[in-house]
Amino acid sequence: MNGFGFLLLTVHLLAAMVWVGGLVFFVLVGVPLARKNPQWQLAPALGRAFRPVGWAALIVLLITGPLLLAHLGVGWPVLREAAFWRSPFGMTLLAKILLVAFVIGLTIWHDRVSGRYPEKGALYAAVRFAGRAIGVASVLIVVAGLALARGY
Ligand code: HEM
Repeated sequence: MNGFGFLLLTVHLLAAMVWVGGLVFFVLVGVPLARKNPQWQLAPALGRAFRPVGWAALIVLLITGPLLLAHLGVGWPVLREAAFWRSPFGMTLLAKILLVAFVIGLTIWHDRVSGRYPEKGALYAAVRFAGRAIGVASVLIVVAGLALARGY
């Protein structure tokens, strides 16, 4: 890997840290603090403040990911071959792309509806479930990324 590849990987990893780290901070620090101090209205405020940061990180990941692929020699001609998607690298990549699409779709929905529901209703439960699903899927994306980088 040359200097440019290393730079891409560094930016990709830093963006992944910001995205996943932000989610972990929210769940392990923000949510418990918000529960202890409901009068602060902390959870929605933290959620709104993290939104631009999280989206910036996701966009950086969406740009650097395909660039990394191209840098590894996986460009359009390779991506168009069915045999590529049957290889271990191709299958891991497919799983990763599907998980990324799932996270982005669910994050858009979560951002649109969170804060606009009465607490304890069915939508409240759905938004909480979506938040957890985003967290779990994001961790799986990291595992897929690590597997890709190690050629599994
Ligand atoms: C939420 C979005 C994403 C996260 C959290 C994420 C995270 C990661 C992580 C942690 C690694 C491991 C790096 C290493 O150990 O060296 C990685 C590698 C990689 N990611 Fe992503 N990634 C995301 C999106 C994407 C997308 C959309 C693509 C391409 C379509 C992509 C393509 C790659 C590739 C090709 C590697 C391997 C790089 C190498 O072997 O040097 N990633 N990713």
